[in-house]
Amino acid sequence: MPKLTIAIDGPAGSGKSSVARRVAELLQYVYLDSGAMYRALALKALKRGIPLNDESRLEKLAKETRIELKSPTPEHEAAGAKNCVFLDGADVTQEIRKPEAAQAASHVAAFQKVREVLVAEQQRAGAGGGVVMEGRDIGTVVFPSAELKIFLDAAPETRAERRWKEHREKGDKLTLAEVFDEVIERDKRDRERKVSPLVRATDAVLVDNTAMGIEETARLIVMLAQERERELARAGRPG
Ligand code: CDP
Ligand code: CDP
Repeated sequence: MPKLTIAIDGPAGSGKSSVARRVAELLQYVYLDSGAMYRALALKALKRGIPLNDESRLEKLAKETRIELKSPTPEHEAAGAKNCVFLDGADVTQEIRKPEAAQAASHVAAFQKVREVLVAEQQRAGAGGGVVMEGRDIGTVVFPSAELKIFLDAAPETRAERRWKEHREKGDKLTLAEVFDEVIERDKRDRERKVSPLVRATDAVLVDNTAMGIEETARLIVMLAQERERELARAGRPG
């Protein structure tokens, strides 16, 4: 069967990482988390004290930064991580999940020049197909000709509650209201920015998983993917 490129986009807490990872596992594809790259770059900017509104310094930083995504170690997996993230060789898997890193990521992600560097990296990583990549602009900008595009969504209260539960399990003492505000503010910034905003691609399938579990959502996407694989095979595309 031909191997597809599957793009999953959606707002914070919609289930992109969990679902994309499971879809990749079921199809034996590679899972790539583009948000982790923005988070890692933002973490480095915070550590270096680079202002989050300085596009040219952030672009330079992006160009001299090495971000690697690897399968999670058993310890990281037990702590809920979907992948291991290395920033210039250092393990930042846990650190990038803090709300400060998430907020900073959505600031650095608003700049065209920063995005160009990371998008080129993502396109290289996903070249060849057989990948499930998730983020905000995968179906619109990174892989506009992906054979299957999903726009994953869920009610804002549900998305915030999911994120809050994750923080609580890690021992972070954030209230549900604080997490709700963080998620809503970041979504607004991601949706309203001029460059590559979070938007459903016209040819993306909308999947609202407010009332669905990870496994159910992943299996629905796998069914759609297998249908596409069969269509392409019938059309004579080689595997
Ligand atoms: O990547 P994204 O921010 O879109 O979401 P995620 O990190 O995959 O999911 C956020 C949390 O919601 C995780 O703890 C998932 O286990 C949980 N989740 C859920 O309970 N039900 C779903 N259908 C999807 C995710
Ligand atoms: O897991 P969650 O959905 O909360 O966030 P994420 O996917 O890790 O992304 C963190 C931030 O990076 C987002 O709020 C976006 O501002 C940015 N991002 C982006 O602009 N484009 C992407 N393809 C992925 C993430």
